[in-house]
Amino acid sequence: MTLAIPTDDTITMDDLVRDPYRIYRRLRAEMPVAFVPAVGRTMLTKAADTKAVKDNPALFSSDDPNTPMKRAFQAHTLMRKDGDAHARERGAMAPAFAPRNIRDHWTGIYTQIAKDYVARLPRGEVVDLFGALAAPYAARCLANLLGIESATDDQMIHWSQSLINGAGNFGGLDEPFAIVDAAHEDMNALFDRETQRHLTEQGPSALSAMANAENPIETSQIRANVKIAIGGGINEPRDALCTILYGLLTHADHVAAVKEDPKWFLEAFEEGVRWVAPIQVSSRRAIQDTEIRGIAIPKDHVVMTIQASAGHDEEIHDNPERYDLFRPKKTHQSFGTGPHFCQGTHVSRMMLVQILLPLLFDRFPNMELVTPDDVVWHGFAFRGPLNLPVRLT
Ligand code: HEM
Repeated sequence: MTLAIPTDDTITMDDLVRDPYRIYRRLRAEMPVAFVPAVGRTMLTKAADTKAVKDNPALFSSDDPNTPMKRAFQAHTLMRKDGDAHARERGAMAPAFAPRNIRDHWTGIYTQIAKDYVARLPRGEVVDLFGALAAPYAARCLANLLGIESATDDQMIHWSQSLINGAGNFGGLDEPFAIVDAAHEDMNALFDRETQRHLTEQGPSALSAMANAENPIETSQIRANVKIAIGGGINEPRDALCTILYGLLTHADHVAAVKEDPKWFLEAFEEGVRWVAPIQVSSRRAIQDTEIRGIAIPKDHVVMTIQASAGHDEEIHDNPERYDLFRPKKTHQSFGTGPHFCQGTHVSRMMLVQILLPLLFDRFPNMELVTPDDVVWHGFAFRGPLNLPVRLT
């Protein structure tokens, strides 16, 4: 016999934005499948369940028609498609993310960007690395990877935030949509100019690969792909970097370890995205009646897979709420799992683990987080520190 979905109406959006992890800990223990009216979705908080749902696209579709994403992106994007339609659009960008391109092109370009951006940081002063380094570094790297180098860092950051705010505008407010609509006009105009350039100067970027493909996808979908990457490729490496630095700089033994042996940078990265997942949740819609943990999930019901909670599951991790560089197993689903697994995973590891973190510790070996208690953590769907005041010495 299957049971009806239990409801938890004590959870508020404000609580989720402030500290979702306390709530997920309780849900994992007491109600791992729970309808939460504040988000209008059924939350899945156990790692086995979030993985099982995302790995089974035949039963759980990515097309959640009730999200504001289509309105915000002015398109039905690859993230909300399944099967061949999804594979076709994802495949169109794939050449830019290929390991050979990462090795032969992006590593060199990203290294130069990192050197330039770290060189302009003032020595001896307290600097907010969120705005002074993490965001612009992610923006410049992404502008190159996508083939829209003429976009400024400020434009990239504004577009990214506008798309994210629009996609998260569940209340249907006018202002976030008006802001993102204006951003679309600027983005489309710039993409059209850059596309003309790529038709004569073929290169390794995503836009070049899509514009010069033998059977190109529709212009609307080329634009949508670039916008998905803008929405997903700036805030996430930015938040991951700030989270990792916070984790390291609040533990003297962690700092000693990374300075002693750079192999620890990879561990610091995996532990950082496990500890605070930059993208915390995703939605999937049941294609037919099914059940999870004996609870009936009716056809067309939308479940929210909480990858943030999966990385804190006590069945896998001891003391999950602690950032611990030496944790033996840092298993997480912070890049997703299944067909929509993050396309930028390898690029993100390269840009932070291989390039930026070693460079930063080399240039400022004694940097310190001046007042860890002043760091403000924020976010439900996307999460990270809003500031990172570091004395650069
Ligand atoms: C630490 C950094 C990052 C994290 C934690 C992250 C996380 C994620 C997650 C969780 C998803 C899956 C969403 C779902 O299942 O519905 C995703 C998808 C995606 N990510 Fe990332 N991401 C990161 C960086 C990047 C970067 C740098 C790029 C681009 C250069 C990127 C491009 C994409 C794209 C295109 C998708 C959609 C894939 C698809 O639907 O097939 N991501 N990302």
